[in-house]
Amino acid sequence: MTKMTFPEWAPQRTGFPTSDRAAQIRFLLRFAILAPSGHNAQPWRYEIDHESGSLLINLEWSRVLRVSDPNDRITFMALGTTARNFVRAAECYGLTADAQIVGEGTESYVRVTLTDARDDAEPSTDWIDAITRRISNRSNFYKEELSEPLKARLTDFEVAGVEVRTYTSADDKRALAHLTSISSKKLINSKTFRGELAQHVHPNTTTKRTGMPASGQGIPGPISPLAPFVVRHAKIGTWFSIKDRKQLTDAPMIVVLITPGDAPHDWIRAGMAHEELFLRTTSERLALDTFAAATCDDDSRARLAKRLEVDGYPQILVRTGRAKKQNRPHTPRLRIDDVFTEAPAV
Ligand SMILES: Cc1cc2nc3c(=O)[nH]c(=O)nc-3n(C[C@H](O)[C@H](O)[C@H](O)COP(=O)(O)O)c2cc1C
Repeated sequence: MTKMTFPEWAPQRTGFPTSDRAAQIRFLLRFAILAPSGHNAQPWRYEIDHESGSLLINLEWSRVLRVSDPNDRITFMALGTTARNFVRAAECYGLTADAQIVGEGTESYVRVTLTDARDDAEPSTDWIDAITRRISNRSNFYKEELSEPLKARLTDFEVAGVEVRTYTSADDKRALAHLTSISSKKLINSKTFRGELAQHVHPNTTTKRTGMPASGQGIPGPISPLAPFVVRHAKIGTWFSIKDRKQLTDAPMIVVLITPGDAPHDWIRAGMAHEELFLRTTSERLALDTFAAATCDDDSRARLAKRLEVDGYPQILVRTGRAKKQNRPHTPRLRIDDVFTEAPAV
C-alpha cells in the first residue's frame, strides 16, 4: 500500500514556550489540529482573543458538509474534538485549560483559557502520545471480550451533559449493527451524499490537506485514483451496509454518546466526549471507528433512540476493540497558518 506520511503527525514536542501565552497557544495547536472530523473536513478556525488571552475555536463555514450534515451537527462535534485535544495537550505541558462552550445557536464556539502551574503538573496519561497516534481504524477488529477494568478505563470519564452508554451483548450489538446498516445503505445510495463524499475521497498519493486518502478504507495505492470516481458513480450502499453490519456485530464494544438536547452546545459536548473516548482507546493500544449513519437523519435517530430506550438524542456511535490491521496511514491536515489567525500584535 502506498503510504503518504504527513509531517503534521510528528510535531515537535520540545521547546514549549515558558511564558508567552500566544506562543503557547500556537504550540498547542499542533496537537489540536490532529483531531478527527467528519470526512476530515477540519471545519475549525482558531483565533486569540487578545483582551483575555484565550483561544477561540470557531466554526469555519467554508468547510462544512452541506449535504451530509445539513444541520451542522457533525461539524459542531468537530469543535469539541479539537478543543479536547487542545485541553489534553495543555495538561501535558503543565497547564490547566478550561474549555467553555459559549455563544448562541449557529454562533456557538469554544473559548479555552489557559492557567499556569497546577499542583499536580505531571499528567497521568501521555496524552501527546495518544493524540499523535490516534487514527480512525476501519479494519476489522478481533472478536474478543474487553475486561471490566479495561472498559472502565475507557469510559469512566465525565463530560457534562453527555451520557456514555456501552453495549457488549450479542443482542445489543446485532440490533445496533442492523440499524446502522439500514441507515448507511440509504445514505450511501444517495447520489448527492456520494457526490459530496467523492470530493473528500482522494488517491493515496494526494497532496490535498482536507479529506481522506482512499487508504483509510484499505484501498491500495495502484487503484486508489479510481476511488473518487467509484464513490461518485457506483451505488455502493449495499457494500457499505454489509461491511458496517459485520464490523459492528463483531466489535467487542459499541459506545453510543447521548445528550439531553439537540443543539450546537450538545453537539460540541458530544464531540469532546468522542475525543476523550478516542484518546483513552488509543492509550490502551486499542482502535476506534466512528459510525455516523445511524444518527444522520431524524428517522434513523428515532429508531436508535427507541431501541436504546433513551429520552435524549443519540449523537454518535463508535466501535472499539483490537484492530486486525494496526498500522494504517494518517489522514492529512491543514497547516496551522491555514486555520489560525494570530492578529493583532500591535
Ligand atoms: C463526528 C464524526 C463523525 C464521523 N463519522 C464517520 C462515519 O460515519 N464513517 C466513517 O468512516 N468515519 C467517520 N468519522 C471519521 C472521520 O472520517 C475521520 O476522523 C477523518 O477522516 C480523519 O481521520 P482520522 O480520524 O484518522 O484522523 C467521523 C468523525 C467524526 C469526528
